[in-house]
Amino acid sequence: NRTEKEWMIKAHSLSAKLFHHVLLERAEAEPARKYLENRGIRLETIKEFQIGYAPASWDFLTSFLQKRNFPLELLEQAGLITQGKTSNYYDRFRDRIMFPILDSQSQVVAFGGRLLGEGVPKYLNSPESLIFRKSRLLYNFQRSRTTIRNEQTTVLFEGYVDVISAWQAGVTNTIATMGTSLSEEQTRLIRRNSEKVILCYDGDQAGIDAITRAADLLEKQGCIIKIAALPDGLDPDDYIRKFGSEAFQKKVNHESKSFVAFRIEALRRGRNLLDDGERMRYIGEALAVISKLTTAVERDHYLRQLAEEFSLSLDALKQEQYRLYRAEK
Ligand code: UTP
Ligand code: MN
Ligand code: MN
Ligand code: MN
Ligand code: MN
Repeated sequence: NRTEKEWMIKAHSLSAKLFHHVLLERAEAEPARKYLENRGIRLETIKEFQIGYAPASWDFLTSFLQKRNFPLELLEQAGLITQGKTSNYYDRFRDRIMFPILDSQSQVVAFGGRLLGEGVPKYLNSPESLIFRKSRLLYNFQRSRTTIRNEQTTVLFEGYVDVISAWQAGVTNTIATMGTSLSEEQTRLIRRNSEKVILCYDGDQAGIDAITRAADLLEKQGCIIKIAALPDGLDPDDYIRKFGSEAFQKKVNHESKSFVAFRIEALRRGRNLLDDGERMRYIGEALAVISKLTTAVERDHYLRQLAEEFSLSLDALKQEQYRLYRAEK
């Protein structure tokens, strides 16, 4: 006699196997196979991540699971099927590449489903359910956890495909959130397993904003933050495809910068530092960031950097910092 949770997990594990089988074997999945091939995702990787394909059908999964005596209401609660207005059930995921999401016990508890082309939503994710709490799970954590613990370093991404692409590039201590911003629970989970966190988010404004938020949260948990900043418009997967695995490994492991350096750099964006007024505002804001550093050694390091760049005396910067500090009070 299975509990509801057990039924849900069993249904997900069967669905994942079915979608994977369809992707690898069925004629109708040819466009899906081509899509993955064009994205550079190899067969070995498809197998490792149990990637699948949900056919363009309204009742493919529904009838498959119904024949195996899964109660339809339960499948609906688990987010695998949807109930229409006329109370008939149909498949939630249709004509999508399926990325199974596993919990810490390596059980499939949800899916992220991607369209093969353009359209909205690009990714359809399972809703929250008895077995899937988005804010408690991290994509790929069950696979990367041992490596993360051993290296005491986590690389955090925004997307499923970033994780998969990085895995192919030999970077395996990785996880991703699933379309939501990092939760406090997730940061605690990360901190319990590793001290250092390298944030490698998309090189767009959304990514930059998300970095600041995630870094603040992770610092509160006592993590040491590094930022692997990507060129404008590229995400980790794009970067790997464009510059290759070695360049990516270097970017993440040797070229990531501190959160402060990242914040100071972010202040430069869209500013013309040759303009006196804008330069002064930049220096003022940079000083404010530097003042918040906890150790004097760090403060000194970034003050010197700023002094050097603009040929200012360290004394003048310290005086200015003091003046700003007084003005704030
Ligand atoms: P991105 O928009 O950066 O997509 O969303 P991506 O991962 O680069 O996708 P590709 O490369 O075009 O396939 C990052 C993450 O946000 C969530 C997904 O978890 C995705 O991996 N997301 C995105 C959604 O949940 N729904 C969406 O419609 C889009
Ligand atoms: Mn078959
Ligand atoms: Mn993005
Ligand atoms: Mn992206
Ligand atoms: Mn992408």
